[in-house]
Formats: sequence, C-alpha cells, structure tokens
Amino acid sequence: MAANKLKLSPLIAFLLLASMAGMSRAGNIAVYWGQNGNEGTLADACNSGLYAYVMVAFLSTFGNGQTPVLNIAGHSSDGISSDIQTCQSQNIKVLLSLGGGSGGYGLSSTDDARSVADYLWNNFLGGSSSSRPLGDAVLDGIDFDIETGNSAHYDELATFLSQYSSQGKKVILSAAPQCPYPDASLGPALNTGLFDNVWVQFYNNPPCQYASGDASNLLSAWSTWTSSITAGSFYLGLPASTDAAGSGYIPPSDLTSAVLPGVKGSSNYGGIMLWSRYYDVQNNYSGQVKDSV
Ligand SMILES: *[C@@H]1O[C@H](CO)[C@@H](O)[C@H](O)[C@H]1NC(C)=O
Repeated sequence: MAANKLKLSPLIAFLLLASMAGMSRAGNIAVYWGQNGNEGTLADACNSGLYAYVMVAFLSTFGNGQTPVLNIAGHSSDGISSDIQTCQSQNIKVLLSLGGGSGGYGLSSTDDARSVADYLWNNFLGGSSSSRPLGDAVLDGIDFDIETGNSAHYDELATFLSQYSSQGKKVILSAAPQCPYPDASLGPALNTGLFDNVWVQFYNNPPCQYASGDASNLLSAWSTWTSSITAGSFYLGLPASTDAAGSGYIPPSDLTSAVLPGVKGSSNYGGIMLWSRYYDVQNNYSGQVKDSV
C-alpha cells in the first residue's frame, strides 16, 4: 500500500502543476523595434526571451503611387534577414509595421490599396521581388500603425492582405489604434473584424489612459474596445519608460497591482504591447512585469 502511494504522488504533483499552469495562463509581450539604432539588433531583442511579437518599424512611405520607403532609423538592413529567421526559430512572430507618427502615407483608391497589398506580399511576405528590403525572410504579417492622413481604403488593404493567407502561410494582421474609440485612422479597417491582434495605445491620450493612482479612464476605454471590435486578441499598449511617450507611463508596480487585474479577465486579453524595444532596454520594463502579464 505504501508503495502505491509513493507511485501516485508524482502523478498528483504533475496534475497540480498542470492545473496551476492552466489557471495562470500568461499573456504575451509585443514590442516595436527599429526606430533607435541604440536598441540592439532584432536578434538581440528576440534572444532576450521577453517577446512573442516584434514589429519592425516602419514602412513610413507608401500609397498614392509613391515608391515605398522602409525607415529603420540607424539600423542596417544587413543581416536582418537572418535575424528574422532567428526570431522565427523561437516561435516569435515578426511583423512589418506600416505608418508611424510621421511619414508620407495614405491610400487614394481601391486600386491603390490593391497595389500596396501586392507590394507587401512580393517584398516582405510569401511573394517574390528583386528588391526585398529585408531579404529572403518571409515575415509573419503586417501591422497597421496608421496615425496620420485619412482612414480611407485601409479596410480594403486589410481584406486584400488577408486573402493572401490562402496561398500558404497565414498573414497575421495587427493594428495599433490610439485609445479614444473609435480610432480616427483605423476605425473602418478594424470594423472588418480581420485583425488577429489589436494593441491599443493607452498613452498620449489623457482621457483614456492611466492617471497616477487612477485606472478608471483606462479600464473604461479597455472595456469599450474589447466589446466593440471583433479581433483575435487585445493588448494593452504602453510606453516602456517615462521618456517613451508624452504621457501615459504606468510604473511597473501600478501595472501589476491596479491595471492588469482589471484587464486580464477579458476573454480576448492577449498581453501588453510596448513602445519600444529601445525604452524597454533602458528601463527593463518587460523584465519587471513579465511574470504578471
Ligand atoms: C530586470 O528586472 C528583473 C526583475 O526585477 C530582474 O530579475 C532582472 O535582473 C532585471 N534585468 C536587468 C537587465 O536589469
């Protein structure tokens, strides 16, 4: 009888651990990389083990018949193709981010949306082109960080990109609206319901961001976003340090005690998004919060 008990105990321990792991299902951290040459390489970011998604920022010029421009300020694109593969070998998804806070971009017509979709497919995804700015590596998807210009035709761009998923590897679509709902630039695109990940920027917008000791504006905006838009999952987009945004920084202890408990209950919670890898290196924000995300 005693021997039986001894045999059972490892099984019981295993079941206990498995159920605990299930109960505390962790969220992911997504991060923007590319806008500061002092943030280390893309491979460094992935090898940190902190992130599930890295968005390469930005394709800052596209549309209206312009020749698209990839701006990865201060970084060389040499070796980046193998860095992307280093990330992907660790099951980290690498996306190309369109737009950003400055740059000349916008879509003028359905045909323009179609031609940008084809350009992205041939130059960054599964198609082929002699110009591929990041080399042969096939990115996992496209991120919409549309912050200027009007919102026209981005819904069509999302639709055209999603249709490429039928050619093999799924094209992941993500978007980074700002927290006032609906988003001025991404509203119609998000209404397609085609986005896998929506990282809402809870910063530079006092009416819907965290205020010292008061999460009510943020939690109310989170609830509006997660109940109004159909998407795979929602992420809390945050500055990784006080220098990363004009306002909206949440100290790690406030995040874990006052904010995460209010958002993790949503069935479509995915984790947090950070702007950016550079500020995360400076402030070790991910390192401080990852066990609670
Ligand atoms: C980041 O913070 C975590 C948690 O406090 C700590 O364990 C880790 O050593 C820190 N990393 C760096 C590079 O400071």
